[in-house]
Amino acid sequence: MKKRTHAQLAALVFCVLVWCAIPQRQDRALRAEATLDTTASATAGGMTTTLRIAAESRSDKPDFLIGAAVAYPPLMASPIYRDTLAREYNLVVPENVMKWETIEPEEAKFDFDPGDALVSFAEEHQMKVRGHTLVWHQQLPGWLTTGTHTRDQLLAILKTHIQTVVAHYKGHVFAWDVVNEAIGDNGSMRETIWYKGIGPDYIEQAFRFAHEADPDVQLFYNDFGAEGLGAKSSAVYSLVKDLKDKGVPIDGVGLQMHVGIAVNQVPVIENVKDNIERLGALGLKVHITEMDVKIQNGIGTYDEKLAAQANVYADVLRLCLHEPACTALLTWGFTDRYSWIPDFTHHPDEPLPFTVDYQPKPAYAALIQTLTEP
Ligand code: XIL
Repeated sequence: MKKRTHAQLAALVFCVLVWCAIPQRQDRALRAEATLDTTASATAGGMTTTLRIAAESRSDKPDFLIGAAVAYPPLMASPIYRDTLAREYNLVVPENVMKWETIEPEEAKFDFDPGDALVSFAEEHQMKVRGHTLVWHQQLPGWLTTGTHTRDQLLAILKTHIQTVVAHYKGHVFAWDVVNEAIGDNGSMRETIWYKGIGPDYIEQAFRFAHEADPDVQLFYNDFGAEGLGAKSSAVYSLVKDLKDKGVPIDGVGLQMHVGIAVNQVPVIENVKDNIERLGALGLKVHITEMDVKIQNGIGTYDEKLAAQANVYADVLRLCLHEPACTALLTWGFTDRYSWIPDFTHHPDEPLPFTVDYQPKPAYAALIQTLTEP
């Protein structure tokens, strides 16, 4: 047998490493992509425009951004994934690679490579980047969750993390989710590692640290289930109002918008409108940060479910376009092939605007239609 060269061996090791790094479901989806036509056409499904062109053509809101969360494995491996993303969106957010476990896997050792690759892709295609997320209680590295730290040590860890990451992406990331999901469903503070180890003021500390590292970047508080009116959205409102009153540098609120077509999952647009307007009255911007619309548990035929899904997308986008405070809408992924929802709910679903084969769904047509209506 021929002896392998060093380069071949290195390639082999690299492949094995990449293989191990890709979660199984995404991996299967990636391999199956080999059978697809690997380049997307200039527009989707006979449309004469794209989401980003339609958004950029609105004279009433020329700075409105339309975005999607990006999964790292297909960004690296799939031409049709890259082409569709760059064709349709002018804003991206990393789905995972700027989270703590990826970016600071060992204390004070930072790995910016995947995040940098995403930023390069975005800049090559004139897309803006939202950073997600500096402070959260999930996807934390073991050294942080299993270690014991005093309040001062934890504050120092938080400061180093936030300031190193924000400084690294200064001028490349235009807005950060500084704190993610700090409020529980009943409106009380979630008892996270940060809350327990530092106290409720970890939130304002986090915003101040981020602002020190980049005074120009926009800083957001991001949460789910706080879109409309209720205990949780009131608690989010009180939290950000309190931050504003204290002079803490906060620019906006991210409403995740993980919703569905089942009766109790459809966002009540009137309530979302009231919520966006009260946040706007504080001088805050609103981004719809992680929208997806589940069709599991919906009623009707498959086509009826897709039509109901399209309506939810259109209603939320229309509201955002009409509310001056609402300046961006992002979906959490764009193709059903890489949605996080089936893993999260343990149930098949198709919550995004493109099919698993990158074909536009009724939801896509509804988004285009909404972007092009006056
Ligand atoms: C999710 C990712 O989509 C998954 O790939 C990962 O396994 C878990 O996190 N709210 C958030 C996001 O703010 O960071 C979450 O992303 C989805 C819910």
